[in-house]
Amino acid sequence: MDREHHETSYHQPVMLEEVIDLFRPVPPGWIVDATHGGGGHTRALLAALPEINVLGVDRDPDAAAQVRVDPRLRFIQGNFGALQSLLSQALPERQAQHDISGFLFDLGVSSHQLDVPERGFSYHRKGPLDMRMGPDAAVAARDVVNGYGVDDLARIFRRFGEERFARRIAAAIVAQRPIGDTATLATVVAEAVPAAARRRRHPARRVFQALRIEVNQELQAVEAALDVALESVCVGGRIVVMAYHSLEDRIVKRRFAAALEGCTCPPEIAVCVCGKVAQFKKVTRKPIRPSEGEIEENPRARSAVLRAVERISI
Ligand SMILES: C[S@@+](CC[C@H](N)C(=O)[O-])C[C@H]1O[C@@H](n2cnc3c(N)ncnc32)[C@H](O)[C@@H]1O
Repeated sequence: MDREHHETSYHQPVMLEEVIDLFRPVPPGWIVDATHGGGGHTRALLAALPEINVLGVDRDPDAAAQVRVDPRLRFIQGNFGALQSLLSQALPERQAQHDISGFLFDLGVSSHQLDVPERGFSYHRKGPLDMRMGPDAAVAARDVVNGYGVDDLARIFRRFGEERFARRIAAAIVAQRPIGDTATLATVVAEAVPAAARRRRHPARRVFQALRIEVNQELQAVEAALDVALESVCVGGRIVVMAYHSLEDRIVKRRFAAALEGCTCPPEIAVCVCGKVAQFKKVTRKPIRPSEGEIEENPRARSAVLRAVERISI
């Protein structure tokens, strides 16, 4: 595959060949790239699969500005937490419920969002405390950092950052408010944790992840979107999800496990009485991770975990 063609300075698509290969067997029709970003996966899908059209979705207006004109591509700006409504708006000609050939979710933030200091996502770059992926987010990071009480801050750092020193960090933030920018926040966090915790990775990493998840209500959006994708994909169609941290991956794993479940009768019953038939099958026995070569070339791919399922009946 001509990787160069699909990479941009906006974002380098992760596990590009693996993703395309997973979609090769799906029936002709629409694949929804729910996280269009710089469009790397979309362009590769369009190039490799001539009978596929792509609906790109992204909540970020900067991603919307990246969309390249292609007669087989539609794009809609919006939050995939409201995927059903986005599908109705962008594909009004749909006749059936289970008719989408595939869904791709490449979760998390794009390199563009991380690299532009004004977006406020990075603890390495001084910028405003924003972190909104799109204008639909109700609050910005500054509202959370300067407005939430100690208990709520500690709760989100613990829950969304799995941060051991959540309460100490929350108390330090409240004591030093107002906090005006990302660099100041990163310093406050670094000074709040014990010296030993500063050695391995940046001490603000988990706090920034937690704030981003809270601001964008990321986990709720993933849960809602997976339900719509599982409802809407056609027989033979596939759902491919790449997660970049364990909170997201856990949601994907649980939701897929429920979809894969068939007969729930106890093993001693010879003939099924529950009537449940599995509607999905796993496409890969184990989750797929990027190769060492890819991680070397693109270190941001390191934490990616890919899971995929295929609908086998309705
Ligand atoms: C990792 S990037 C995707 C990169 C893309 N696959 C590419 O090849 O360039 C994730 C993208 O998903 C978008 N995104 C994250 N959560 C979203 C949501 N709930 N609704 C819509 N877009 C979302 C982000 O704005 C970001 O552009």
